[in-house]
Amino acid sequence: MGKLLVIRRRDGGLEGDQRKNLQLGRGRNGRPPVLEERVGASGAGRWGRRWGRAVGLGRGWEHLGVDPTMTAAVTAVTREDIDRAAERLADRIRRTPVLRLEAGALGSTLGSTTGWVLKVESMQHTGSFKPRGVFNLLLSRPTSSGVVTASGGNAAMAVAYACQQLRLPATVFVPRSAPPVKINRVAALGARIEVGGDYYAHAYDAAVEHAARTGDLFVHAYDGPEILAGQGTVARELEQQAPEVDTVLVAVGGGGLIGGICSWYGASTRIVAVEPRQAPTLHAALQADRAIDVEVSGIAADSLGARRIGVHGLAAIRAAGALSVLVTDSDISAARQRLWDDTRLVAESGGATALAALTSGAYRPAPDECVAVLLCGANTDPHDLVPRA
Ligand SMILES: Cc1ncc(COP(=O)(O)O)c(C=O)c1O
Repeated sequence: MGKLLVIRRRDGGLEGDQRKNLQLGRGRNGRPPVLEERVGASGAGRWGRRWGRAVGLGRGWEHLGVDPTMTAAVTAVTREDIDRAAERLADRIRRTPVLRLEAGALGSTLGSTTGWVLKVESMQHTGSFKPRGVFNLLLSRPTSSGVVTASGGNAAMAVAYACQQLRLPATVFVPRSAPPVKINRVAALGARIEVGGDYYAHAYDAAVEHAARTGDLFVHAYDGPEILAGQGTVARELEQQAPEVDTVLVAVGGGGLIGGICSWYGASTRIVAVEPRQAPTLHAALQADRAIDVEVSGIAADSLGARRIGVHGLAAIRAAGALSVLVTDSDISAARQRLWDDTRLVAESGGATALAALTSGAYRPAPDECVAVLLCGANTDPHDLVPRA
């Protein structure tokens, strides 16, 4: 197995500034040449693997670092991996509650005769599902050195929290645009914060470079088999708590959460991937038939603003045949309001995005379809709570 080598084309040629997943081969003249590029999924037979031959380092490519947590090959995450993750996490994470709402709840335009299931994962430690994947990675690969990540939001909080619990030093590279409400909590959890440039991609590069230089364990904010297996434990729990569910609505940023959920349910349950129109990372990848960079903006960008879908998530999403739908920022605001009105629960914008597909009609279930919505985060500034009481 190779490692993920992060490279950039010097001349900004055909591939521009993209990251490539490359399998490292035997070194030549003391330098690891780039052998092959893997794009897209493996394991899901119908998608197959797309291989492209890349030029060697030094011939138009610059080496930015090695991401030591990732393997070049896409490793399919199995239900057994998720079972093992659940065992590892047993004493570390909360089993979050499921709330069953009556048929008339959440908007009169919705025709459900069965009611709705809300998985209130926003009650997880740090206010989002993210500690599941982080703990699973840290407990799978014990390290005596430090831990480093790049994130301006919930992943950063999860890394800081997990490291505090495991007594490991944590460094978090944040983009300048990171919201103060999240950064303040990261600092309060004892992590060292470094500003890694204007955009997430800059913070990511800085964190990878830091890991290569110091030997700290790099924790990816959303991709990698351990991350997906950890996030998949939320689906494992949901299946136990609500076996009647036909469909699960999930918000997508970089695809780790939905990748874990797809890895658990496979094609047995309909998975609907919901993204803001202004951050259509998965939607664009499915249309292009490969992971591509997209522009991201809008009210949920601080949690769903990954510019490129993770390769492991994309593989799992394709294998499960998840549907992809888009919602507007005003759909998301309306969903937050609706949630507060009907349940007195608070969600951040990314945390209400899956719900927005239901309340806006972007996803219209059949009358007898039992739909579960994952409320995946509530890290919002209290001043930003919905305006009406
Ligand atoms: C609240 C919330 N929901 C959903 C997501 C999307 O998760 P992923 O990036 O694994 O797709 C994130 C990511 O940070 C998040 O913070």
